[in-house]
Amino acid sequence: LPDGLALTPPMGFNNWNATGCAIDEKLIKDTADIFVSRGLKDAGYEYVNIDDCWAAPQRDASGRLTHHPERFPSGIKAIADYVHSKGLKLGIYTSAGTQTCAKTMPGGLDHEQIDAQTFADWGVDYLKYDNCNNENRPALERYTKMRDALKKTGRPIVFSICEWGQNKPWEWGADIGHLWRTTGDINDTWPKVVELLKKNAPLAPYAKPGAWNDPDMLEVGNGGMTDTEYKSHFSLWAMMAAPLLIGADLRKISPASLDILRNKEVIALDQDRLGVQARVLSQADGKWVFVKPLANGDKAVALFNENATATTIGTSAAALGLPRRPGYVARDLWQHKDFQTAGELSAVVPPHGTVVYRVSTAKWWQAEPLVSAGLQLTTS
Ligand code: GLA
Repeated sequence: LPDGLALTPPMGFNNWNATGCAIDEKLIKDTADIFVSRGLKDAGYEYVNIDDCWAAPQRDASGRLTHHPERFPSGIKAIADYVHSKGLKLGIYTSAGTQTCAKTMPGGLDHEQIDAQTFADWGVDYLKYDNCNNENRPALERYTKMRDALKKTGRPIVFSICEWGQNKPWEWGADIGHLWRTTGDINDTWPKVVELLKKNAPLAPYAKPGAWNDPDMLEVGNGGMTDTEYKSHFSLWAMMAAPLLIGADLRKISPASLDILRNKEVIALDQDRLGVQARVLSQADGKWVFVKPLANGDKAVALFNENATATTIGTSAAALGLPRRPGYVARDLWQHKDFQTAGELSAVVPPHGTVVYRVSTAKWWQAEPLVSAGLQLTTS
């Protein structure tokens, strides 16, 4: 939506991947605390989002949604106040249907205005609007109604269209919401990450500030993949300017996973204000090259190895569309090291791994050659 919200992809947390319906207000408050204490707020994470199952099964006497008495005994307004007191924002969830997907609470269909107003009154900053139990009514109509209802409240609320890519939301989503799911649900397995990547990558032309493709929330830290695979998942989501919504329980996350989520140089690609989703420059035999133009003229390049064996993947400054120079300075965003090259950009990429370079246009050769491990330099 061209309303000044979500000019870069939303960053934050959503509990669904970690907990499903087993949610409570302590998880939400603890997450807000950890955002501050563990440097995640500092790294750009802002929205603390509650997924399905937060409401009581019935509306109250005035027709409003109300909090689930055991899961959120203090009420949603109190949670919003707490999250706001930490300088963060609160997100909530419902479905454009008669019930939500877990069928534990009423959905927003035909209750758009009262629900939008309830969320605004509580101080909600983000709404994920799902697609379950929709009575086969047209998606565009259902999501438009909620867009208009949110607008009418006057509160700035990021609107996440969770329609799973069924009715090509990339073709209409930019007028309705700030992001739209392009796929079915993620899970904590490597094949699923690759499947979602393949569905989301071709949709690059539709992404722009205020309007993002959403290949679903992150699984980094949930334990089903290797650190190499989690780095690939995170790198590729950042290259695709996807929302970065942490899906792990931060109270239990490993230091290695936390470090992946806090890689500020990779986050900077996702959050770059130019807002262009990486496109696939080449792809053959499971060797992928993605390129993402950045606001300062730099290019980010990701060398992704889909295969189960290590392989060399490469491209060149010319292929990336960089201006001709005697040499380039590139930075490896996982090794945090600069190196110089006459133009070749290649690496031996581990199985399921991704090497991410940021190639500078401002810097040329530097005095001391720095060679990054695994990189083949050409000097001609
Ligand atoms: C759908 C959504 C998920 C999650 C669940 C909750 O499957 O796609 O992201 O919100 O519903 O029930």
